Amino acid sequence: MSLRPLIAGNWKMNGRLAEVAPYAATLARLSGGRSCDLLVCPPAPLAAAMAAALEGSGIAVGGQDCHTAAKGAHTGDVAAEQLADVGCSHVIVGHSERRTDHGETDLVVRAKAEAALNAGLVPIVCVGETLAQRKAGQAAAVVRAQFDGSVPRSGAYVLAYEPVWAIGTGLTPSSQEIAEMHATLRSLAGAAVRLLYGGSVKPSNAVEILAIADVDGALVGGASLKAEEFWAIAEAVGP
Ligand code: PGA
Repeated sequence: MSLRPLIAGNWKMNGRLAEVAPYAATLARLSGGRSCDLLVCPPAPLAAAMAAALEGSGIAVGGQDCHTAAKGAHTGDVAAEQLADVGCSHVIVGHSERRTDHGETDLVVRAKAEAALNAGLVPIVCVGETLAQRKAGQAAAVVRAQFDGSVPRSGAYVLAYEPVWAIGTGLTPSSQEIAEMHATLRSLAGAAVRLLYGGSVKPSNAVEILAIADVDGALVGGASLKAEEFWAIAEAVGP
């Protein structure tokens, strides 16, 4: 890996306030001599507490989504600036659960990525094919189209390849399949963009996945909920 690896945890709609301080303390203690960047993305109501609990640890905090607008009449949504205000440095945009549950299109995802950049956040833009698309031989074309439509037109971002069928299922693509998709994304995104793999990353497969060419880190869902397990994945980056 030529870029410093980034291991990002996505808590999704899990976690309670009482869990934040013990989690942060454990993660900070375990990761003292780390050779990667660490990022925790809790649900928005917990972001401020997480940022406070991780202060001084060098571990970053991110949101899981933001609105396309800086403010306004959008009940229930969160603005990128509000995430920045409470100590977030990153925000995930275009996660497949957002694309599926909320009908987010590439156009919307790009607008969210650009709203994040305007607020001083680094967007983590997610792309990935469904199982039907992979079986039909369309995985590369689908991901390429999502890339073309979703990444910000300028500014620094992180790209996450998350095959929809691997998220939360325990299934992962073969190393060869990950390598092929990441090579495609590298050619599209360039040398400076960190390319994360996401989808059922766990301590038992992290060494193999993180060793694949053009994999600069991982976006971890379920296995990020326990600090020890999340750290076991980050440790797989090696010294
Ligand atoms: P998972 O989720 O690790 O639970 O498969 C990954 C993600 O959705 O970011």
